[in-house]
Amino acid sequence: MNAYSQIDTTIKPFNAVIFGGDGDLAKRKIIPAFYHRFADEQLSAPHQIICVSRSKEDEKAFNKLLTTFIKATFDDTEEEDCIDDFLNQVSLLRIPQNNIESYEALKSVLLENAERQRVYYFSVPSPAYAEISDALKKSGLIDERSKVVLEKPLGHDLASSREIDSIISAAFREEQIFRIDHYLGKETVQNLMVLRFANHLFERAWNAENIENIQITVAESLGVEKRVGYYDKTGALLDMVQNHLLQLLCLIAMEPPANLNARAVRNEKVKVLQSLRLFDKSSVKENIVRGQYTRGNVMGENVKSYLEDIQKYDSGTETFVALKAHIDNWRWKNVPFYLRTGKRMKKRYSDIVINFKTPPHNIFPPSKHSLRNQLIIRLQPNERIELVQLSKIPGPGGYRFQPISLKLDFLDSFQKRMPDAYERLIIDILRGNHTLFMRHDELEAAWKWIESITDNWKDTPIVLYESGEWGPGNDVMDEGTSWEGK
Ligand code: BG6
Repeated sequence: MNAYSQIDTTIKPFNAVIFGGDGDLAKRKIIPAFYHRFADEQLSAPHQIICVSRSKEDEKAFNKLLTTFIKATFDDTEEEDCIDDFLNQVSLLRIPQNNIESYEALKSVLLENAERQRVYYFSVPSPAYAEISDALKKSGLIDERSKVVLEKPLGHDLASSREIDSIISAAFREEQIFRIDHYLGKETVQNLMVLRFANHLFERAWNAENIENIQITVAESLGVEKRVGYYDKTGALLDMVQNHLLQLLCLIAMEPPANLNARAVRNEKVKVLQSLRLFDKSSVKENIVRGQYTRGNVMGENVKSYLEDIQKYDSGTETFVALKAHIDNWRWKNVPFYLRTGKRMKKRYSDIVINFKTPPHNIFPPSKHSLRNQLIIRLQPNERIELVQLSKIPGPGGYRFQPISLKLDFLDSFQKRMPDAYERLIIDILRGNHTLFMRHDELEAAWKWIESITDNWKDTPIVLYESGEWGPGNDVMDEGTSWEGK
């Protein structure tokens, strides 16, 4: 029996309380994720989902709204729905203020089934955490088995992230805290572990000896949408790199963990974060590009500039960032990791490209195609893995090459709906499996590295780029690049 088979996979009876239960995230992601797990008969244990709202709402209208949001997540393979059965377990509770009096109603609902585990999902901005966890604690609603789920952003720098940690840890122990990074719940991201550690072929070549560089790209076609206030204080570095891109980097770069237990996996991830080379003024200048979108045309639609979107004359917030990072350890010595992300790009796609080294000696005639293999892991959309190799074009006339791909397309291979990231994460929370959630020391290490950028990039100019293009070009960032923007 290995360590993984000892992980408890049963789901015990639970009550989930979603603070911000009528908010955008709850409606678009959290509730539909619970629904799909329910429809798949994974939530057969007795349970209740309580959506907490600050304002007065009509429960019937709310249920109708949830039905619409749930249906929006259906695809062609969804045949029958059991939305009404699911919604019988969902209720709306108004809590106008975070104090003991206002929590009386919640208390009486929860104590009806006091034996159930309680999951408190804080789908609210972090300034509200203190009041909520304090009110829960004073109302006697936190016990040994209670869990708390926190959404990003967890602070805007190291100090504020520590402050949030101290507030939460006054009410919950580290083992009760689940810090969500939804990228870790994506099927293709989880598959990175399988690709690396269940396929001996790749792992043997996974090092500086064989790899030239690694490129992680998350390109979005959307702009800031309605999150103007949040985004203008945050920017692409904090919104995407500090969490999602760094988590991808960890999974790509970490050493094989001893087993799949949360402790073993997170120990390896934190070592990667702690080995990231810190930036200083001159390395920021040489290795980081920041950009902001102007008007343009994205997939046939004319769109406004960032400044028009946020209705300001001026803003120093980046909507695009590209950087070259290094991990100072044995395995990755001198292997650049290119990370890029931007809004209003030509199209939406995320992938990780592993560029292998060329053979040490070329016996073939010169060709415009580089003699290197590429492993492309397409995270979204059209999830797939591609191994690009050079092949001889058939026919006489010497050696002429063409890159061809060995493709593993997930949809073709598995013919199944791809579950949303939140579905997996919610199940793991209910089971108490921390593997896909960030530990406090991971967060600290990520913030330390990010601060080495933010402390040193005040003089780095923001380069404007046209919406619907691939962001600002730059000599350093374009070197050896294989993203679609090139
Ligand atoms: C969120 C960011 O965490 O991730 C958003 O705050 C971004 O700005 C989103 O759009 C991207 O997630 P996904 O799953 O659509 O790639």
